[in-house]
Amino acid sequence: MSQSAFFVTTPIYYISGNPHMGHAYTSIAADVLARYHRTRGTSYFLTGTDEHGQKVAQAAAAAGMAPKAWTDSLVPRWQELCARYDVRYDDFIRTTEPRHIDQVVEVFERLKATGDVYLGTYEGWYCTNDETFWLEAKLIDGRCPNPECGREVQWLSEQNWFFALSKYRDRLLSYFRENPNFVRPERSYNEMVATLEGGLDDLCISRTNLDWGVPLPGGGVMYVWLDALLNYITALDYTHDGEKFRTLWPANVQLVGKEIARFHTIIWPAVLFALGLPAPEMVFAHGWMTLEGEKMSKSRGNVVDPFEMVDRFGADTLRYFLLREAPFGSDFSFGEEKVRLRRNGDLGNDLGNLARRSLAMLVKYRDGVVPAPAPSATGAAFATLPARVHEAMTTLGFRDALEAIWELVAALNRLIDEKRPWDLHKHGAREELDAVLYDVCEGLRWLAIMLWPFMPTKATELYGTLGFVGEPLVAWNDALRWGGLAAGTHVAPAELPLFPRMDAEPAATAAIAAS
Ligand code: MSP
Repeated sequence: MSQSAFFVTTPIYYISGNPHMGHAYTSIAADVLARYHRTRGTSYFLTGTDEHGQKVAQAAAAAGMAPKAWTDSLVPRWQELCARYDVRYDDFIRTTEPRHIDQVVEVFERLKATGDVYLGTYEGWYCTNDETFWLEAKLIDGRCPNPECGREVQWLSEQNWFFALSKYRDRLLSYFRENPNFVRPERSYNEMVATLEGGLDDLCISRTNLDWGVPLPGGGVMYVWLDALLNYITALDYTHDGEKFRTLWPANVQLVGKEIARFHTIIWPAVLFALGLPAPEMVFAHGWMTLEGEKMSKSRGNVVDPFEMVDRFGADTLRYFLLREAPFGSDFSFGEEKVRLRRNGDLGNDLGNLARRSLAMLVKYRDGVVPAPAPSATGAAFATLPARVHEAMTTLGFRDALEAIWELVAALNRLIDEKRPWDLHKHGAREELDAVLYDVCEGLRWLAIMLWPFMPTKATELYGTLGFVGEPLVAWNDALRWGGLAAGTHVAPAELPLFPRMDAEPAATAAIAAS
C-alpha cells in the first residue's frame, strides 16, 4: 500500500435487519469514489457493520436469538449486497470482531489515562431508537426531539464514564474555520458550526443497563456510538501502530447520511484530538433516499429491497441512476419508473445506441478495423473533459461528473447525425468517413474509461468490444489523450445491446432483460 492511497469509508450499518436501498446508496457512492481514485493511484475502502447496542439487541430478542448469533446470521446478506452491486471494499469490519473489541478497550484506557474519560453520574433521557441522550429542554412533548423519530424516551440514572467533549469545543470551532472542506455540503457545515456555537456537554460513553456491547473494565459496556466510530481506526490496527494506520489515517473522505453528521463531525474529531490524532480531511453528509417524501428507513417500514431491484435492473443501471438522479448532498425519491427512464433514455438511447451504431458502422464500412486518427474537432472540444470530471469528483459532485461525461455522449451522437457516415460511404468520401469512424470509436474508449468507476461491468464490456482485454482501470492522464486508440485495432461489436430496453413488465421477465 502506498503512502498516497485514498482512504474512503461508509458508516458501519446497524445490523438490525436486512439492508435496504438507502444502505446500498452510500456503499455505491463510496465504491465509485474508491474506484475513481484507483485510476489515479491507489485507494482503500472500508465498510462494515455496527453490531452492538440496544437497537440490535432488541431486534435479536424479537427474532428469539442471541445477539451474536443474530448478527452472524445477517452479515452474509450485507456482504452479498456489496457483491451484487459491484461494491469492492478492501475491508469489512464487524464491531463484534476481537480485533475491534480489544482496541476499543485500549482506546478507553488511553483516554482514561489522559483524563479525557472520567467517572460521573448520569441522569437523563435516552432514546433507544437513536441511541442518544437528550437534554430535558430539547425534548418535544416529552418525546425524542429528532423529527425523524419522536419516540418515547427513557429516564436513566447511572454511574457512568464520560468523555470530556465540552473541552474540545473551541478546538473544533477553529478546526472548522481553518478547514472549510472538513464538512460538506455547506448546509451541514453551517449546521455543525451552529451546534458548536451553542455549546457542548460532556458525553456519557458507558452503559450499565445493557450488556450487548464492548465490556469495559470495572463493569458496563461502551456507548455504541463511540464503539462504532472507533471502527475507522481499529480496522487499520491503530492501537498496534499498524502499517495501515500509519499510511492511511487521516481518511480522505468519510461518507455519512446527514442524520449522523453530528456524531462524525463533532464527537468523532474530538475523540481523535483527545487521542492526539488528526481529524479526517472531509466528512460528506449526503442526502436521503425517500419514498413519497419520507426517508426510507427500516423503522418506518417504507423500504425498497435492493436485491429485488438489482435482479430487475442490474447493478450498473442502478449505480448510474442513484448518482445521476440528484446532487449527492440532496434528498431524492426512489421510484422504479424513474430508474426505467434513465435506463431507456441516458443509458439505452444515448450511450447504448451510440456504441451499437458506431461499432456496427465500423464493421460495415471498414471490416471492424479502426482507421488512422485525423485532426479532430471533437478531440479538441473535449480535451479538458477529464479535468472537469476530476474537479467534480473532488467535490463529490457525482451528478456533475456524469453530466459532463454525457456531453461527450451527446456530441458523438450529434457527429453521426450530422456527418451521416452512410452518405459519406455512398459518395466515396473515404477520408471524411475515416475521421468520423475514428472519432466515435475513440470517444467510446474515453467513455469506457471514464464510466468505469460508475458502471464497472458495462464499461468493461464496452472496453472489450474495442479490442481491449480486462478492465478500463487505467491512469487517465496517460490514457485520455485523443488519438490513443491505435489504428488497426479490431473491434468486436457486441452481440447484444449494452442496455436492452426495459418496459414496465412483470419482475420475472424484466430480470431476464436486465442480465
Ligand atoms: N450504525 C450507525 C452508523 C455508525 S457509523 C460509525 C447508523 N447505521 S444505519 O444503518 O442506521 O445507517 C447508516 C447509513 O446508511 C446512513 O448514515 C446512510 O449513509 C445510509 N442510509 C440509511 N438509510 C438511508 C436513506 N434512506 N437514504 C440515504 N442513506 C441511507 O446510523
